[in-house]
Amino acid sequence: MEQAWESLNNFKNQQTICYKYDLDLKVGIIKIQRPKHLNALNKYVILDLEYILDHMEKDTSIRSIIITGEGEKAFVAGADIKEFQKFDDNEAYTLSKLGKEKVFNKIEQLNKPVIAAINGYALGGGLELALSCHIRVASENAQLGLPECTIGLLPGYGGTQRLPKIIGMGHAMEMILTGKMIDSFEAHRIGLVNYNVPSEKLLTKCLEIAKSFIKTSPDSLLLAINSINNSFFNKGDKIESQNFAKLFKTQNFKEGVAAFLEKRKANYKASSINNSQRREQNK
Ligand code: CAA
Repeated sequence: MEQAWESLNNFKNQQTICYKYDLDLKVGIIKIQRPKHLNALNKYVILDLEYILDHMEKDTSIRSIIITGEGEKAFVAGADIKEFQKFDDNEAYTLSKLGKEKVFNKIEQLNKPVIAAINGYALGGGLELALSCHIRVASENAQLGLPECTIGLLPGYGGTQRLPKIIGMGHAMEMILTGKMIDSFEAHRIGLVNYNVPSEKLLTKCLEIAKSFIKTSPDSLLLAINSINNSFFNKGDKIESQNFAKLFKTQNFKEGVAAFLEKRKANYKASSINNSQRREQNK
């Protein structure tokens, strides 16, 4: 039995998330709902995602979760760049660390499978959200990328850690260092998404996958997720947050964000970061 969408009324009444259940398929569906901002992840979305994920993790009537974005244009176009303007490096480190604890690492370590239904742009924090899910399905209009380096940043929600594990170091280096977007066909070819389907079949495909979990043991799924996650050594997570924060002190970051908001090309200068010192710090 499929229920109607319900809005999550958060403490600021922002309504950034809605959700519904399909109790026959034992699945909870979460939709990020800021279409005017291409579903960009501001702090309210992060807090609402944390709340609904906690709720659905405890809900024994469902065996899996689907996350998608409102509208036809975007899954999630990244972290909210407008929020970044006021941030210093300490706030940036907190954003990255708390975002991981509250949402990204939580999804990866959830007690049931989470499927990303990628219905358009999945950029920056949006692709990182999809990367933290266990299975990714993209619609044919999806565009995927980690464009952070083009705005003077680096992926701060786990992208530098998860992308190489999913698609290999070579493809990950190219995607992160160039910031290029790829379409869903290329994403499927390099193993970034499990399926590439016509837009109108996106949810059907995700529900079909959700249905296949009904015949499995929830204990097995929980411990299989935990075992697979532990096949990777994750010491880079902290370094990523530190480096993400360090970039907020650079002139090039200020230029990158200003250029995005003013809708012009960024004019970057040579790096002022001492790389020998940084190599020592990582030891
Ligand atoms: N943050 C805040 N607002 C965003 C946004 C974002 N990540 N992405 C899009 N928007 C806003 C735009 O500013 C615009 O708002 P206004 O109408 O008020 O100007 C609205 O959404 C529609 O976007 P566009 O007019 O730009 O739409 P477009 O079709 O011309 O372009 C796009 C679409 C290519 C996705 C473009 O919006 C874009 O490049 N977005 C930014 C993508 C990006 O750089 N993401 C990474 C963010 S940093 C990050 O995620 C850090 C991290 O790892 C933690």
